[in-house]
Amino acid sequence: MKLTRLSFLSMLLVSAPDILVAQKPEDAPYKNPKLPGEQRVEDLLRRMTPREKAEMLSGSGWMESQPNARLGIPTIRMADGPMGVRNWRGSSAITNAAATSPVLTTAFPAGIGMGASWDEELVRREGQAVAQEVKALGRNMILGPTVNISRQPLWGRNFEGYGEDPYLAARMGVAYIKGVQGENVIPSVKHFAANNQEFERHRIDETIDVRTLHEIYFPAFRAAVQEAGVWSVMNAYNKVNGLWCAENPMLLSETLQKRWGFKGFVISDWGSTYSTAKTVAAGMHLEMPGGEAMRTWFAKPETQKDGNGAGWLTREKVLAAVAAGQLKQEAVDDAARRILRVMFSAGLFDATPASGGEVDTPEQRAVARRAATESIVLLKNEGGALPLGAPKIRSVAVIGPSAAVARTGGGGSSLVRPKYAVTALDGVKETAGSEVRVGYALGVAMQGDEAGQETPRARVMLRNEAVELARKSDAAIVVVGYSYKLESEGFDRPSMDLPAGQDELIEAVAAANKNTIVVIVAGAPVTMTKWIGRVPAVVQAWYGGQEAGHAIGDILFGAQNPSGKLPVTFPKQWPDSPAFGRYPGENLHTAYAEGIYVGYRGFDKRNVEPLFPFGYGLSYTKFDYSGLKITPAKVAAGKQVQVTMQVRNSGSRAGAEIVQLYVHDVKSSVDRPLKELKGFRRVMLNPGEARSVSFTLDHSALSFYSTAKDEWVAEPGAFEVWIGASSRDIRLKGAFELAQ
Ligand code: BGC
Repeated sequence: MKLTRLSFLSMLLVSAPDILVAQKPEDAPYKNPKLPGEQRVEDLLRRMTPREKAEMLSGSGWMESQPNARLGIPTIRMADGPMGVRNWRGSSAITNAAATSPVLTTAFPAGIGMGASWDEELVRREGQAVAQEVKALGRNMILGPTVNISRQPLWGRNFEGYGEDPYLAARMGVAYIKGVQGENVIPSVKHFAANNQEFERHRIDETIDVRTLHEIYFPAFRAAVQEAGVWSVMNAYNKVNGLWCAENPMLLSETLQKRWGFKGFVISDWGSTYSTAKTVAAGMHLEMPGGEAMRTWFAKPETQKDGNGAGWLTREKVLAAVAAGQLKQEAVDDAARRILRVMFSAGLFDATPASGGEVDTPEQRAVARRAATESIVLLKNEGGALPLGAPKIRSVAVIGPSAAVARTGGGGSSLVRPKYAVTALDGVKETAGSEVRVGYALGVAMQGDEAGQETPRARVMLRNEAVELARKSDAAIVVVGYSYKLESEGFDRPSMDLPAGQDELIEAVAAANKNTIVVIVAGAPVTMTKWIGRVPAVVQAWYGGQEAGHAIGDILFGAQNPSGKLPVTFPKQWPDSPAFGRYPGENLHTAYAEGIYVGYRGFDKRNVEPLFPFGYGLSYTKFDYSGLKITPAKVAAGKQVQVTMQVRNSGSRAGAEIVQLYVHDVKSSVDRPLKELKGFRRVMLNPGEARSVSFTLDHSALSFYSTAKDEWVAEPGAFEVWIGASSRDIRLKGAFELAQ
């Protein structure tokens, strides 16, 4: 081949980065926003020295990636989430971004409450609102959403995720990510994979079979990659099948990258790394935290005692691993490439950092209020106890440790500090109207916050005061639950029971007033056996963010009609959970022996009656289901099935129904769950109004993960479509056949 002067020169350019370095950076193609992202990434990579590339693999601070002044590579500025932007004070004070004053942002409901809304558009708007606040604060990445499955009710972080069902968690996660990325903010879907307990979260080794991973613990991550094109994934602390998630090729390179086609970067959880070469080679790209913040934190004895690992992907260690032949330069290039790709996608090289915007705008507050309202699940309502209001009642006693304190979220890295928060008591006062007298009594202090009830006598007096108030009132609202100190990242709940004294308070109030309504503020099911039969109404309010009080008031007094449905099964008692006896494991090992039978799949399998089933929630109106049509009756492999039905509001007030579609595989060569959620619609209807609802079922709705074939398989034969108002209130059934 004859080399022209030009081609010789361009060869030189490719093979000699120093020549490019000599070029004026402002002329460089990577600086040109008009060029395709991939071209810019490759151009920039070519200009980077091995040292500069290696430097990209670890953070520069607690929440910052490495900048590069020579090439003008900006810093990714992260913020914790996902239910709003985390306050940078308190336990997170080591954040470089730590302002002298706390960062006050909108507190949205906990993920579990967002899951209970079953409202994808609302979750998208939440993601968008959070991203807008991230930008206004001069950051460009939010560490969320959390899509880990609620395997068992004691997990301290159940409140952060979207519940027990992989399909629902996938829908919610995708919506959140779309909202965030739509604002050019980088999300980080977390924690990959199977972070389902806090107990020994850094050391626990989970044995999980391949089918269970694919059917239960992976789908939300897969959807994040394939449907939302997520820019970043955070790995989990725990080990899966013997290997830490940060150095697990099966999880990272094989599944995430090769199988699902992930193009973004994997970020470590804070302190989840234990090696250099193995970690990078497995497909982990950015280690956090980094720099001085990491060294100071890691030097603390408690950091290491907890089992954290850090400081493995520093420039020096990465370069040394390459020099020693333990790590290929291509793996380092790939990590740098992925980080840069996301930075270009998010416009970090092009836009001037937009900070100083307004945070907690009226629109953001409106999303928080809508979300708090839609998250509430009406669990019990006998004899029309709810809604309350005049002339039925003229006085109401608001009682309990979560009545006059706004418990906006659970504890840990997701805890948001809002500018204001509406308590249940405030909300009730606002909504009850002038004709209803509202009284308040604490009844019992929140465990861990015992002020005023140090002695048994003081405790009795507190309770008596509440009982007395309840006796004098037409109705009593007892607001109970957990606090961020008792339900949190970092540890699990010791049991499903309400904290000390709360069951007794409910029983005492219920004995004094037959119109006792219990409102539960908690991120996971609580045991209700002692009192559920003695109260006419129970409301699950989760941690509802800063607007929770308004939402509670609106629902209790009927200004809003409840529409939330449970994203987790509520067991009668902890031993009924499919994970009971298999958690927390022994000798730092836990076997997920229940396999795919998590949540309602497990309750169905073992025929255990839950207290309230997955997908359950009441309304102040009634909905009729009819007209199920499934076409075609016989579907060819790979083709879609159309399902339609009608839902009608047959009651007297407007309301939303969440119609659920479950698939039942009539005959299968492997054991399959009795039913699996494969579709849902939230339908708003006026009284008397009817709407046609349609669903499309494809291969993925009919398949199981075949370990023999190592892929998703839909076996020919009969399938049933079950349409329900909950997983145990199936109203319509129909069938079709999948042809050979
Ligand atoms: C949590 C992550 C969080 C990170 C940074 C970790 O302990 O598991 O969810 O984003 O800290 O604060």
